[in-house]
Amino acid sequence: MSIAVYPGSFDPITLGHMDIIRRASQCFDKVLVCVMVNCDKKQPMFSREKRLELIQKSVAQFPNVEVELWDGLLADYAVKCGASILVKGVRNMTDFDLEMQMARINKGISPTLETVFLPASAEYEHFSSTMAREMIRYGQPLEQYVPAAVAAELKDRKEF
Ligand code: PNS
Repeated sequence: MSIAVYPGSFDPITLGHMDIIRRASQCFDKVLVCVMVNCDKKQPMFSREKRLELIQKSVAQFPNVEVELWDGLLADYAVKCGASILVKGVRNMTDFDLEMQMARINKGISPTLETVFLPASAEYEHFSSTMAREMIRYGQPLEQYVPAAVAAELKDRKEF
């Protein structure tokens, strides 16, 4: 059984992430979406629990996708779950450079782990959670970039 982990901070989950999850769910028997801590992103806009909830609502349509929180090393999480594949979405060369480094670090920690890169679909190439947070701060509509659960959460919240 092929088990893949799709890690990220997902603050918030975007349609670009959803596209990678959908495609990964077709490639592997099971996909574990892992909500993690990115030490470079100091102050998240959404709590970990809220991010988990929004992702769970958004992936309910995929029977082989599960979502979990983890605040340790990614490689440790993968080993704990019996996963041998890490899935990363790559939008551009900046992503690629960083992801190559992380792939090598993760393989150094756990040599049986393989990182698989999925190229971002063209329609999501220019978008990121960072852009989503920026647009949220300025009250811009986001329906075309985020799943319905996130759009609904934004409607309900007055302050960020
Ligand atoms: O969505 P992001 O913020 O680009 O995801 C980055 C993330 C969370 C996947 C990365 O920071 C990470 O793997 N953090 C967990 C700690 C870890 O395992 N670090 C070693 C790999 S470089």
